[in-house]
Amino acid sequence: MPLSTSFMPSSIPGCAVLTDSNDSQAPLLTVRDLRVSFRTARGLVRAVEGLSFEVHAGEILGVVGESGSGKSISLLAVMGLIQDPNALIEGSIVFKGRELFGLSKRAMLDIRGGEIAMIFQDPMTALTPVYTVGWQIVEQIRAHQDLSRHAARERAIELLGEVGIPNPRAQFERYPHQLSGGMRQRAVIAMALSCNPSVLIADEPTTALDVTVQAQILELIKKLRRDFGSAVVLITHDMGVVAELADRVMVLYAGRMVEHGTTLELFDEPWHPYTWGLIASIPPLDGPRPRRLPAIPGVPPSQIDRPVGCAFAPRCRCRFERCGERPPDLVGQGHESACLIAASDRKAARDLVAPAAGVS
Ligand SMILES: Nc1ncnc2c1ncn2[C@@H]1O[C@H](COP(=O)(O)OP(=O)(O)OP(=O)(O)O)[C@@H](O)[C@H]1O
Ligand SMILES: [Mg+2]
Repeated sequence: MPLSTSFMPSSIPGCAVLTDSNDSQAPLLTVRDLRVSFRTARGLVRAVEGLSFEVHAGEILGVVGESGSGKSISLLAVMGLIQDPNALIEGSIVFKGRELFGLSKRAMLDIRGGEIAMIFQDPMTALTPVYTVGWQIVEQIRAHQDLSRHAARERAIELLGEVGIPNPRAQFERYPHQLSGGMRQRAVIAMALSCNPSVLIADEPTTALDVTVQAQILELIKKLRRDFGSAVVLITHDMGVVAELADRVMVLYAGRMVEHGTTLELFDEPWHPYTWGLIASIPPLDGPRPRRLPAIPGVPPSQIDRPVGCAFAPRCRCRFERCGERPPDLVGQGHESACLIAASDRKAARDLVAPAAGVS
């Protein structure tokens, strides 16, 4: 895995507190060989299979992949928030040099919300219906910071204003069900940002929001990174947002990482045919919009009866015999991909499929 050297903690005032390790380049968060499966009546659903990645202070890691590729489940596992009793979770999750896997509920409560915060894809996951939004943000702040109730209240109102909630003083007193979906999402974002976490996991933070508010939220995420040297894991379907915000990107397919690299590497010279398809699906910024956006033909494989070989092979127009034999390993240094196409053949292969880029 590469180290991002562009934005090291030492370059951020006050950032030394973020790293306990002597090595200032040590990642804030290291995930190794994460596996999540669910026992179901139909069989074992393998949602995440051997995922490894790391995030450094001050960097934004984009996580992309189609619906069901394991984006949310991986990061919920990092937060210790997979509640399903049928879930089987394995792997190692090290935060600031400390193994989180197997930590007590009490210890995880101290870390969650304060040190590592998550903006949930479904805002209701983070909100309790029986308390006002303001009360919930105040509690969150006071659980992790030594602030008086009055100061926490003022901070909560300020945060509600920052995430674009009009008349934040009045909205502070409302219950979650009295807010629209977009407002609820903003309230959850305010809650996640309230303690200036070292690591922010943002799961589709702007999907339900209109473009203006979306820009405001993305600006807040950048500000968190700039002012506090926080690391951000940004899960999104929107390749445009990734291109604009992320320093590095990991591409998931059917619970595995199929490509990883800096944003520049990934957009300039993507290696994996699946990434070619994702990039081809980005709508053009100018010129006539296509009547139909290109989509990658086919559907992801069943996560119960997985293909023996590369999980993308059945949809891949470049597949050859060996692709069906076993899942390819991630190969490369820094920029890496799990595909058997030889580096020397990549360009020709992409030229072959890219004009149509999977137009269905
Ligand atoms: N409790 C569960 N029981 C069985 N399977 C589950 C459970 N929770 C998640 N899964 C499966 O795990 C896989 C990964 O789900 P996940 O929510 O991580 O997808 P995602 O990449 O976040 O998708 P989206 O983009 O739609 O949010 C999916 O196939 C999903 O059906
Ligand atoms: Mg999800």
